[in-house]
Amino acid sequence: MPKKVLLTGGAGFIGSHTYVELVKAGFDVVILDNFSNARPDVIDRLEVITGAPVACYTGDVLDGTLLDQIFTEHKIEAAVHFAALKAVGESAEIPLDYMNTNIAGLYSLLRTMERGGCTRLVFSSSATVYGQPDQLPVTETAPLSYTNPYGFTKLACEQSLEQIAASNDKWAFGILRYFNPAGAHETALIGEDPNDIPNNLMPYIAKVATGDLAELSVFGNDYDTQDGTGVRDYIHVSDLARGHVLSLNALLETDESHTVNLGTGTGYSVLDMLHAYKKAAGHPLPHKFAPRRAGDVASVYADPSLARDLLGFEAELGLDDMCVSSWNWVSRRKNT
Ligand code: WQD
Repeated sequence: MPKKVLLTGGAGFIGSHTYVELVKAGFDVVILDNFSNARPDVIDRLEVITGAPVACYTGDVLDGTLLDQIFTEHKIEAAVHFAALKAVGESAEIPLDYMNTNIAGLYSLLRTMERGGCTRLVFSSSATVYGQPDQLPVTETAPLSYTNPYGFTKLACEQSLEQIAASNDKWAFGILRYFNPAGAHETALIGEDPNDIPNNLMPYIAKVATGDLAELSVFGNDYDTQDGTGVRDYIHVSDLARGHVLSLNALLETDESHTVNLGTGTGYSVLDMLHAYKKAAGHPLPHKFAPRRAGDVASVYADPSLARDLLGFEAELGLDDMCVSSWNWVSRRKNT
């Protein structure tokens, strides 16, 4: 009998890709999403990719009554919690919304899980909990901090989960610290689909490539990096999704919690990304150099060895795969 898993935020960018990988791995998956950052038709596209109906509830993880209904109608054995607000800049404008959705939302889910006898949770965290790391590559033992309310909420959730797991060994949590997710599904049916002007590099470049945005501003070319532009650890969203399957399997097979980086261990600069995307799109991408963005650091990339040792996870896709899959997705979306 396939194990049933609840994906909160399962219609979103990483959630939808994780849905596909979980179904491929033989799980029976239920989605809860309020569609605040996802288009409703993603569900239809997930049905095309998986060739099967998608069980999806529309609503908010803060709605305890709806959560109780889901846990009554389905024997949920584990949850993967994506539902959260995730824009760094916006978090500084509406910190209370971020704390309510991201922290109270986690507590709401955990309360219902406890009532339903479900004690396995994979949590979507972020390398943002490393603040401005002073050692590279970044390991899981690096000092934790935050530089914005979004990062605060991720760290508060991580530490809440650690306290809960320490209080009762019935619980086991997989805390996954994403570096920089990028790319799209190989079918070009799902991908990053931001509602407004993207903050992140790849979705911004993608909109320049389709002509929806005029040019990319490169935030700083005077960093102490190989070409002066910011270096990050981009990881293909399908690799990231696979990491969630391996985390879930580990939780279901053992009673052990884990906290791991999900990255490739390789850093690429903004100009590296522009070059790779230009190759994928087949035309030049207008860009200009602009002042540094407040809060940015020169270079961040992961030490991915703990995820390999604990979960058997290693990223398999590279920057060209990320750019080609992103280009296929955005150019298809623009033409449909
Ligand atoms: C990458 C590089 C920019 C946009 C953020 C969040 C982090 C996580 C991932 C949620 C940097 C440069 C960007 C642009 C640019 N999100 N850049 N022009 O800042 O590493 O991480 O997203 O968990 O919490 O902080 O990613 O994509 O914003 O920037 O030059 O228009 O691209 O300076 O060097 P970042 P990013």
